[in-house]
Amino acid sequence: MASEDEPKATEKSEMKTPVSRRDFFNEFAGCALAIAGIGAAAVTLEYSSPNVLFEPPTTFRAGALDDYPVNSVTFIQDQQVYIVRTEKGLWALSAVCTHLGCITQWKPELNQIACPCHGSKFERDGKVQVGPAPRALPHFAVRLTADGALEVDKLETVKGAEILRV
Ligand code: FES
Repeated sequence: MASEDEPKATEKSEMKTPVSRRDFFNEFAGCALAIAGIGAAAVTLEYSSPNVLFEPPTTFRAGALDDYPVNSVTFIQDQQVYIVRTEKGLWALSAVCTHLGCITQWKPELNQIACPCHGSKFERDGKVQVGPAPRALPHFAVRLTADGALEVDKLETVKGAEILRV
């Protein structure tokens, strides 16, 4: 009588059956084809999806007029825009240096906007005081909405003399 620890005759025969070279290569080829098929499907899906670049909107709400006291320069970091308010009115100014695109910084103690990269300096209306910046900082269109908020459109540049009279 056989003990329970010994494998049964059928299990024994399955365990001892060697994998033939042909079976091994058939399995290997099947796996390789499956991997290649998955890769080809991924590339096809990637190719068939539209190649669209999603950019943030160019118009943004900059808060209420009262957020900007007279004779102030406020840097809106996530938009890289200055809101400048004087007794004459208000304007929105790009904070991107016209030399090589560094982000400028408002220096209240010097009453100027300075570029940390190559030393350009701008007046608060954007005019170049010191180069190498070749042009003034551009002004963006700014308007008051019906509910009293400021709205800046970074796609629409305006001449520096155009300010929002408030
Ligand atoms: S990038 Fe501003 S001075 Fe060069």
